[in-house]
Amino acid sequence: MCGIVGYLGPRDGVPVVMDGLQKLEYRGYDSAGIATFVDGELAICRSVGKLRELQKKLLQADLAGSPAIGHTRWATHGRPTEPNAHPHVYHGVVVVHNGIVENYISLRGELEAAGHHFSSETDTEIISHLIAREIEGGRDFPAAVRAALSRVRGAFALGILYEQEPQTMIAARKGSPLVAAYGEQQGEYYLASDIPALLAYSREVIFLDDDEMAVCRPDGMVVMNIADGRECRKEIHRVTWDPIMAEKGGYKHFMLKEIFEQPQAVSNTLLGRVAENRRQVELHEVGFSHDDWRRVNRVVILACGTSWHAGLVGKFWLESLARIPTEVDIASEFRYRDPLIDEQTLLIAISQSGETADTLAGLQEGKGKGAKILSICNVMGSSIARQSDGVLYTHAGPEIGVASTKAFTTQLVCLLLLALDMAAARQTMTEEEIASQVAGLLHLPLLLEKVLELAPRLEKIARRYHRASDYLYLARGLNYPIALEGALKLKEISYIHAEGYPAGEMKHGPIALIDEHLPVVVLVPHDRHYEKVLNNLQEVVARDGRVIAFTAAGDRKVAEFSAEVVGIEEAGELLNPLVYTVPLQLLAYYTAVFKGTDVDQPRNLAKSVTVE
Ligand code: F6R
Repeated sequence: MCGIVGYLGPRDGVPVVMDGLQKLEYRGYDSAGIATFVDGELAICRSVGKLRELQKKLLQADLAGSPAIGHTRWATHGRPTEPNAHPHVYHGVVVVHNGIVENYISLRGELEAAGHHFSSETDTEIISHLIAREIEGGRDFPAAVRAALSRVRGAFALGILYEQEPQTMIAARKGSPLVAAYGEQQGEYYLASDIPALLAYSREVIFLDDDEMAVCRPDGMVVMNIADGRECRKEIHRVTWDPIMAEKGGYKHFMLKEIFEQPQAVSNTLLGRVAENRRQVELHEVGFSHDDWRRVNRVVILACGTSWHAGLVGKFWLESLARIPTEVDIASEFRYRDPLIDEQTLLIAISQSGETADTLAGLQEGKGKGAKILSICNVMGSSIARQSDGVLYTHAGPEIGVASTKAFTTQLVCLLLLALDMAAARQTMTEEEIASQVAGLLHLPLLLEKVLELAPRLEKIARRYHRASDYLYLARGLNYPIALEGALKLKEISYIHAEGYPAGEMKHGPIALIDEHLPVVVLVPHDRHYEKVLNNLQEVVARDGRVIAFTAAGDRKVAEFSAEVVGIEEAGELLNPLVYTVPLQLLAYYTAVFKGTDVDQPRNLAKSVTVE
């Protein structure tokens, strides 16, 4: 959470940083700020609210300079007010921060006792005080940063400037993501929380590791270990994402664009992972062999939110296809319950951002107990990807809308590829069975195109029901997690209370909620649960609930009982979760549009949850 961007180089850094912040606004958007040096003098501009508020202020402030660092905030310590907005400055030391200083109360007490006065309620301001104190004690700027950070417990990604050394920009990282990058011109450097902020300027990035800092000066960038100052050799990575991918491309919202990108995203996920004969899966890239798959006796999937829903579908596939006992854990729960893990456990961490603090901590917990780690991530070089024994990248391209869409469907594709590869290794499916699922996967982009044609129908339904205060989503089996996901999408962007439930469980409680005001979304695919779900649907109708049914195109029975029916061209039992996901995303999207909420940046949320 929180986005930071920095620039050092020959051009004016203010528009560069503002442009980068705009790409990172999904990481937090309750206040923002920027700092630079104008003719050697420090100039800071901060504002409460979205980045556009800061932009308005900047128009009047006429700020231009280099280096420049900026921040978009998701409040942890201290309300979203201007004094709490970053950058924070003390005695010429300017800091932007993503993370949490866990020992800030004791550090603040120590500094106050030594006569320091604070101008904000944030934990971040401590860092500028600590560095300034070290400089005043005689250390040079980088040494002061190192000494100060040795006192800080918790997580940080930092951009730091110092008024007396206006040609230096320092970046430091521990537990929160940070990339440093080389610009096109000599002596040009960038830093950012995430790659999309840099796409327009640089393709050559360095992923800072924990406990590392980068000191950028016109004559070069040096990466060193924070504890001992020793220089670290870093690999330069070439980023393949296109800057256009991080633009709205004519769509009203990123979310809508990302929903419509799903056929292409799924094709990209499949690319290079299906054998030439189109009958087998090839996952050599993940670094696990078929022997490894045979040795696994248990899978534990860890994730949060939407990624957790993908994990629930993954469990079904891994158990039914590869016959491996699989548990799915919410990462924040897993890490505190002393889970049973051993060397034959494969731990799968699923995370779009690859930075979710709970998932990362769960991964570390599992690793400590000897599990092998495979991650399914979208963001290249992210912390979770780098701490895993193998990575299956989703290749969905940058996902900017806070509500996850294409990341989810591509996670599902990765999980199915994995289940098929494991099934092949463990001989739990015949070659023919695998070939038939591979064929289904290859046909999927076409079916996703078809399901997207339903958008106008979903817009109409959304218009009709957007004033409802609650929604219930029901499904069974493989599609039960899709009901959970549909409900999550609706609540996070439209702020309508929504619950997903296994349809068979409805009679054990939620049935009490049903009345003529409650829209009930029921997924009735043509699979082994069809009759049972149809019975559940009738139970809803008998209590005057308003059923919005999603079923196979042409189904008459479901239509007979439902207020609304959406006919889906199905993909077969195993692949149906993918085609049933998309219309639920569209329903949530249009509902939010009719309600007039901020679709891409819903209140209180952030895209990348890097705090516990
Ligand atoms: C919902 C959503 C969140 C994320 C969750 C995990 O639309 O986006 O629930 O899925 O915060 O994020 P990642 O996948 O980045 O670990």
